[in-house]
Amino acid sequence: MLFQLSEEQLMIRQAARDFAQSELKPGVIERDEHQKFPAEQVKKLGELGFLGMMVAEEFGGSGLDAVSYVLVMEELSKIDASASVVVSVNNSLVCYGLEAFGSDYQKEKYLKPLASGQQIGAFCLSEPEAGSDATSQHTTAEDKGDHYLLNGTKNWITNGGTASTYLVIAQTDPALKHKGINAFVVEKGMEGFTVGPKENKMGIRGSDTHSLMFNDVKVPKENRIGENGFGFKFAMKTLEGGRIGIAAQALGIAAGAYELALEYSKQRKSFGKPISDHQAIAFKLADMATQIEAARLLVYKAAWLKDQGLSYTLAGSMAKLFASKVAMDVTIEAVQVHGGYGFVKEYHVERLMRDAKITQIYEGTSEIQQLVISREILR
Ligand code: CAA
Repeated sequence: MLFQLSEEQLMIRQAARDFAQSELKPGVIERDEHQKFPAEQVKKLGELGFLGMMVAEEFGGSGLDAVSYVLVMEELSKIDASASVVVSVNNSLVCYGLEAFGSDYQKEKYLKPLASGQQIGAFCLSEPEAGSDATSQHTTAEDKGDHYLLNGTKNWITNGGTASTYLVIAQTDPALKHKGINAFVVEKGMEGFTVGPKENKMGIRGSDTHSLMFNDVKVPKENRIGENGFGFKFAMKTLEGGRIGIAAQALGIAAGAYELALEYSKQRKSFGKPISDHQAIAFKLADMATQIEAARLLVYKAAWLKDQGLSYTLAGSMAKLFASKVAMDVTIEAVQVHGGYGFVKEYHVERLMRDAKITQIYEGTSEIQQLVISREILR
């Protein structure tokens, strides 16, 4: 067992760390405050090859491994989870979905601009009445011969307003239940497709979350992904990888908050010495560091399994369940270490605490991860 990153992985991590410090950190508080999408920063992330990290070079990607991807997610998320979620959705859900299951036509037309960062994508599964219960899709895709007619509403779609390409899950044959579900590539600008207002969120406020409305949208048949009825499996397979990305995001949020708390504790004095010299604080830091390291091992292992071509269903869900809990616990403690300063925006930790919460909700709630894990260990 080799707990060592390669030279290349270390270089990529350093590049992401530098980018986060120089490009994401300035303005992160303002973007959160005003719910401003990090458009310029995302463009630069695309130029660096971070939006299609695992996609083969022939399709415009960087051809890197999943371990490199989680290293990048971790570093970006230490500073700005609103930017890192764009990286996560584009890489894990949209690019992966198209590269693994798309047709040659779809790869040429849609994957290349997404993987090279010229465009960003969105993954549209959740509905007003179907989040955890993903089989219960109310959005319909009626087969009309050479095209499908798409009708319905999707909710809480990350990159909803800024994406150009949307992977949309819809029900074609309700009698067949999950076997009647399909996934489609939908373009922004298709007639009948409208984007609702931006959600006003507790955390990841810079990210662009919208409802989407489909009203008799004609989607050409060649835009269906995979065989008829493949849509549910497509969503499940794609989300498995997505969970590793979000686990890495949670890890990064926790590590970012911990680093701030560590630094602050060495500078802030009380009772005549730095607060880090008080065991009440030092022991908190010890617990935070231990939890983060345990989360890191789970996240890296899940990514490593993916790189080996081994099953990562269990490892990915464990990583997400654990890392997102660590993100919540550690960010709360980081605010506590900062005392009153932790409660004001300039010190960043309150934002990280708000951002942490979503990692227990999106791409499968913690309860969904418990369901996946229990099914895997009990079968
Ligand atoms: N891989 C491949 N196939 C899978 C699978 C997987 N991981 N999980 C289930 N399937 C298959 C099953 O084998 C079964 O196929 P067969 O009928 O051929 O045997 C079929 O799918 C149905 O499976 P289940 O009966 O187990 O389905 P279920 O309704 O019990 O659902 C679930 C299982 C795990 C709860 C699933 O519904 C789920 O993961 N839900 C959560 C969805 C989710 O993560 N939503 C978040 C929205 S996306 C998002 O947040 C994106 C964003 O913007 C950031």
